[in-house]
Amino acid sequence: MTIEDQINNTSLPKHLAVIMDGNGRWAKSKGLFRTKGHEQGSKSVKEVVEGCAEIGIPYLTLYAFSTENWNRPQREIDLLMKLLVSSLRKNQKTLQKNNIKLNAIGNLNALPEKVHTELLEVINATKTNNRMTLTIALSYGSREEILKTVKEISHKVKNNLISPSDIDETVINNHLYTKNLPDVDLLVRTSGEQRISNFLLWQIAYAELYFTDTLWPDFKKEDLFKALLNYQNRERRFGKTSEQLKK
Ligand code: FPP
Repeated sequence: MTIEDQINNTSLPKHLAVIMDGNGRWAKSKGLFRTKGHEQGSKSVKEVVEGCAEIGIPYLTLYAFSTENWNRPQREIDLLMKLLVSSLRKNQKTLQKNNIKLNAIGNLNALPEKVHTELLEVINATKTNNRMTLTIALSYGSREEILKTVKEISHKVKNNLISPSDIDETVINNHLYTKNLPDVDLLVRTSGEQRISNFLLWQIAYAELYFTDTLWPDFKKEDLFKALLNYQNRERRFGKTSEQLKK
């Protein structure tokens, strides 16, 4: 039986989020420039997007560029931005064919105009697709997102649009970039690092965490299915006892 056959389609994560790490180390281990690692990494993006659509995961969120990544050498930033535009262009057909809706979270205004425009075009072209929502986190930082949320809600309080006693989790959710997405069920990070790196801090409150040593450019469908199988063998208690869940 293949790993895919062992997966129970009725208990898949509704929302899978991935920290795609290790592109640079993959390239270095092969004596290549870091940028080659990102190019190879974009092939893993395609594999994982197709794998999730095939198996029936409705929400996939990928951490493609963090607010901290702006501190990388300009040459690498330029290549990553170029790669994003070309990937969006190249994969628009795959998104349509698989009925996938593209979404983006982060401070998108910080992106170069060309990337921003291309992104909005593909988002618009795929907006009625409904098999899966693929969210790309770009110029994304969770603390920036939370700060933005606090500022927006504070303005509403100041203008008497909302009273402090009405602020609850739903109000906060509705001001996050992820307002249309459910909480994350499974967070995967590749490359052996075991950190969250400012990704979806609010949204992963009850997520299962899965870390693998595989570098992102080597992460293929089989690796995705292994992560899903591992998730299915866990008991998610949400603060309750094991006995309560069995009732
Ligand atoms: C982390 O590896 C990866 C990134 C910062 C970029 C991820 C981008 C892609 C996979 C390119 C295509 C993306 C899309 C959505 C089409 P790293 O450079 O931090 O690796 P290292 O830790 O080994 O140096």
